Amino acid sequence: MRRKLIVGNWKMYGGLEQNQILITKLIENLRDIKGGDFAICVPYPYLFQAQKLLSGTNILWGAQNVSPFEEGAFTASISASMIADFDCSFAIIGHSERRAVTHDSNQSAAKRFAQTLHAGITPIFCVGETMAERMAGIAHRIVTNQMRAILDGLDAKTFELAEKLNAVIAYEPVWAIGASQTASPPEAQSMHVLIRQLIAKRDPEFAKKVRIIYGGSVTPANAGAIFSMPDIDGGLIGRSSLNPEDFKRICEIACSSESENSTI
Ligand code: PGA
Repeated sequence: MRRKLIVGNWKMYGGLEQNQILITKLIENLRDIKGGDFAICVPYPYLFQAQKLLSGTNILWGAQNVSPFEEGAFTASISASMIADFDCSFAIIGHSERRAVTHDSNQSAAKRFAQTLHAGITPIFCVGETMAERMAGIAHRIVTNQMRAILDGLDAKTFELAEKLNAVIAYEPVWAIGASQTASPPEAQSMHVLIRQLIAKRDPEFAKKVRIIYGGSVTPANAGAIFSMPDIDGGLIGRSSLNPEDFKRICEIACSSESENSTI
């Protein structure tokens, strides 16, 4: 049975004072919710604050990216080992906003994925097609190529680490992120099945346990239908993670959803 995972992606929002209020509220709101794993991925400058406030609670924390390099003369870059200093459990890798804004390629996302693992941190590897790609009927091909970057591009040792550290995949259709629409639950389910099948070709055991979470305008209103799909193991939550009541509801719904895990 795969435990549901709900991760808040704070993006470039926050400030010391408002984080203090939001995190304090989240701790109170999520304290008694059992049966799932919860995390927030905050901007780099607030990792220390997240670590300080969340240590010992049932909320984990992480960052939103890491450099594809281990160290070096890369001004303004942040390495995986640097975020490990703040006891991060997760790093979001290959988010579509990074792919769009900084032209993060499949290859560079795969390198970031590997760096994250080698620093002992669980990557949340994001894949997803644009609306133009979906309309052109190539959504499955795009996601397959994004997945191939890690499935074909990683050496055996790194792939073993991915399994050991329970690497997470996030399917986030780009057209549903920060939008008024979300993928329909069957649409998302079909992509999650594709992703699980691709992983199964490389490692059938890992495919059974890997958590594939959905992201793109998840709200308390649509979370129930999305999380009831058998291959959707949780959510990557943007806007709704900045509202402590909405985030709480989404976590509650995830933990009470009665989906049977698929048995690939
Ligand atoms: P959203 O963002 O929930 O605001 O659509 C999700 C994400 O970008 O991870």
